[in-house]
Amino acid sequence: MNIPTKKLNNGFEIPVLGFGTWFMGGSFEKEVNYDESRDIEAIKKTFKLGGTRFDTAEMYAHGYSEEILGRALKEYNRSQLFITSKVMPINLNYDNVISSCKNSLARLQMDYLDLYLIHMPNPDISINETMKAFDHLKEEGLIKNIGVCNFNVERLKEAQSQTKNKIVLNQVHYNLLFREPALKGVIDYCQNNDIFIEAWRPIQQGSLAKKGIDIVDRLGKKYNKTPAQIAINWLISQKNVITLVKASDPKHLEENFGSIGWNMSEEDVKLLIKDYPIQLDRSNAVQLK
Ligand SMILES: NC(=O)c1ccc[n+]([C@@H]2O[C@H](COP(=O)([O-])OP(=O)(O)OC[C@H]3O[C@@H](n4cnc5c(N)ncnc54)[C@H](OP(=O)(O)O)[C@@H]3O)[C@@H](O)[C@H]2O)c1
Repeated sequence: MNIPTKKLNNGFEIPVLGFGTWFMGGSFEKEVNYDESRDIEAIKKTFKLGGTRFDTAEMYAHGYSEEILGRALKEYNRSQLFITSKVMPINLNYDNVISSCKNSLARLQMDYLDLYLIHMPNPDISINETMKAFDHLKEEGLIKNIGVCNFNVERLKEAQSQTKNKIVLNQVHYNLLFREPALKGVIDYCQNNDIFIEAWRPIQQGSLAKKGIDIVDRLGKKYNKTPAQIAINWLISQKNVITLVKASDPKHLEENFGSIGWNMSEEDVKLLIKDYPIQLDRSNAVQLK
């Protein structure tokens, strides 16, 4: 199945559903004696099912997630893939951005990234310095596009003012349960300024895949879809919103592919916004800064 894409006015185009790698290989450190074969199989299966966009970060398992992703994708044609990685907040000074990017590429065994993101803002390092480094990486062809994660509107404007390149995307924690980006105006701002919002943790690590929420169960019956498929489609049915989900279990993977290729009506998107019982669970959230 070809995953549908969305396009910005400047021509930047991206598949609406990508695939995450957080926890592949460990959390912040590489897990000792980790068996990577399940993840490698999942990544290959994702590609075979039509998934081409993968998301990783130098922070994930201390770079080991990037290595796993690189090994899994090695045999495929690079031009068919869309690869995103991220630089850690402590590495946002000019020289470290450059070396972090090169190290990520080496671990991925790739020559360029389709998208490079600031993983989180760092108020202790000048954003001017960071954006100049991103501009340099783009000039050198090591990255094709630039973006940020977990930025509030003010920081997004400031970052954009420090680069000659367009910030194409802001990756934020956004799902049926966690609406902070909407409440803080980030969704509106991106929608009105031709920037993608990439919703990370779309099924809140499995919580949103369970039955038992009346409005979701009713829509599930209406569209013949599971709660996870409703949660993911609700995101990509919104203007300028795309998402990425992580699944190493083949059953999860297949289920998640069922989130695309159909459209939830505008009325139902609004109904979920209005009627879904938000619990504002902040326990697992990265706050917008
Ligand atoms: N920029 C940032 O600050 C940031 C922060 C967090 C995450 N991210 C990115 O966003 C990606 C997605 O977020 P996430 O991994 O935190 O959360 P998620 O995608 O909402 O959830 C992943 C978890 O849910 C399980 N799962 C997947 N599909 C399922 C299904 N259909 N039914 C039941 N369970 C299912 C997975 O299990 P199995 O693996 O066993 O299938 C995994 O444990 C990350 O992997 C990462 O690449 C970015």
